[in-house]
Amino acid sequence: MTESEKLYKRALEHIPWGTQTNAKRPIEDYAGVMPFFVESANGCRFIDVDGDEYIDYRLALGPVILGYRYPEVDQAVRAQLDKGVLFSMASPVEMELAEKICKVVPSMEMVRFGKNGVDANASNIRIARAYSRKDKIIRCGYNGYHDWFSTGVEGNGVPKVLDDYVYEVRYGDIDGIEKILKKDAVNISCVLAVPYDFNEDISGEYPRALRKLADEYGVILIFDEVLTGFRLSIGGAQEYFGVRPDLTSFAKAVANGFPLSVYGGKKKLMDKLNDFVLTATYAGEALSIAAALATLKVMQEKEVHEHIFRMGRRLMAGFREIAGRIGVDVKIGGFPVASYFLFNFASDARNKKVQVELNRELYKEHIFVYDRWFISYSHKESDIDETLEKFERALKRSLGD
Ligand SMILES: Cc1ncc(COP(=O)(O)O)c(C=O)c1O
Repeated sequence: MTESEKLYKRALEHIPWGTQTNAKRPIEDYAGVMPFFVESANGCRFIDVDGDEYIDYRLALGPVILGYRYPEVDQAVRAQLDKGVLFSMASPVEMELAEKICKVVPSMEMVRFGKNGVDANASNIRIARAYSRKDKIIRCGYNGYHDWFSTGVEGNGVPKVLDDYVYEVRYGDIDGIEKILKKDAVNISCVLAVPYDFNEDISGEYPRALRKLADEYGVILIFDEVLTGFRLSIGGAQEYFGVRPDLTSFAKAVANGFPLSVYGGKKKLMDKLNDFVLTATYAGEALSIAAALATLKVMQEKEVHEHIFRMGRRLMAGFREIAGRIGVDVKIGGFPVASYFLFNFASDARNKKVQVELNRELYKEHIFVYDRWFISYSHKESDIDETLEKFERALKRSLGD
């Protein structure tokens, strides 16, 4: 038994699924090769509890945009630690970060902080409902676990009555959203949608069409930029695609892995927060705020996005070259900062089977990826080239060569 397996067995005794974040649970298909527990990480690599080092393309599910233990961020956190973590009144770093975010994100006029993507979405929905005095919402994508999200599922603890307040639509289904708005716009406060779902359509047509529909039917547009924010560009998908939502939720990459979310947008909507209670003890926790200030500073000073796009393009070009040379039909796409490599055989069952095989072989080569290849500022050319060399061996083995 590996150390990973021993720890997992122990974790299951006291932690449901053995993990705090469901997406981090060990997967049966990868038994024996997937690292279950990480001991430490640095740059673009981590070391698991069995002492094996991996080049990481999962990046803690997206947040680690600069790299693990990025020096400027960790120094800023240490400096803040010397002053304190949480205070009895607000601290000046909150204001500094609020000003900075309103400067770099086109639609932000006022912001507040939270801890997880789900709090940011929940807060924006409360604001939209309070402002519009309408109770229903339309939502699209994964937005978190709260009651307004997890409707329509039997036995998950969400009151059934809430089903009537949430319309769920598929990503990209503009016609579906318009149909709902035509029928029920008088009761709908907002559309909460991810502006890009990390799949093939990188045109920005969907977020632009959402803006148009929201204006036409007089509903508030909320972008869930928890995953796209500070990754597609410093100003998020909204800056990249040139669309301004009314409210936005950010988390993940804003603080390079420190726990911080940001929500906000138009002042007239955010002013609603003066009228009712929406508050959290740890929202002003200063270490994460200091981390976010340092992360944004590095992004502005070091052309981080130019670098991660360039490294991503190098990786995708390598994938294309290798697949072409081996003669396997694949789909390579998405944004270079979080691309995908998928098999394109006629049978879906075969695609799934070989994809699992490929991931297994990649883990054996100590390349850690899940479904998207997230790139950080710490991935350098030599890391990409090492990855491609290992990827080629893994791909050949997964195809049975
Ligand atoms: C688009 C999107 N929204 C919301 C969330 C929820 O964020 P958190 O897990 O930080 O609550 C996630 C998490 O993966 C996400 O990808």
